[in-house]
Amino acid sequence: MRDAVRKLWPELEWIHSHELRDQVTRTWIKALQLSPLTADDLDHIPFTLLVPNCPISFMEHKRCVVHIAQKAAESMCEFMGRALPIDMDVVIAGAILADVGKLLEYEMVDGKVRQSKRGELLRHPFTGVAIAMECGVPDAICHIIASHAAEGDLVKRNTEAYIVHHADFMAYLPFKNLAK
Ligand SMILES: [Fe+2]
Repeated sequence: MRDAVRKLWPELEWIHSHELRDQVTRTWIKALQLSPLTADDLDHIPFTLLVPNCPISFMEHKRCVVHIAQKAAESMCEFMGRALPIDMDVVIAGAILADVGKLLEYEMVDGKVRQSKRGELLRHPFTGVAIAMECGVPDAICHIIASHAAEGDLVKRNTEAYIVHHADFMAYLPFKNLAK
């Protein structure tokens, strides 16, 4: 399972802290163990159920969000770093984990993905935090998982959480136009 997660997420190597990289990897392993989906499914299922016939896969979207977040954080560090400290490990780990709870929100029926009963009751920000905390992921990163989606609009996001939230939404909202 560890190899499957490494294959899904080459970006794990960007996390400098070995301890944090291991916590993030173990969170993904745990989610795959609990999920009705396989690692292979993630390359094929749509990244959202909110866009009909969504043309982008879960992994394409998730990896894109990590790349956007990393580049955005680097630019912010370059120009504003003296006034705005940003922890790159927290940004990368938070972006890699933001949607890990979707593995418990979705289920496969007749080859198609849909929201499960559990997913209706507990959207992925909630289940994502539950799995991550169990794997020892620090609070600053659980904060990103908890606040990355619309639920997080009620939370006072920290800098790293703002970066991941906006990276996620800029790679999601344009697809809503395609659906019109
Ligand atoms: Fe999400």
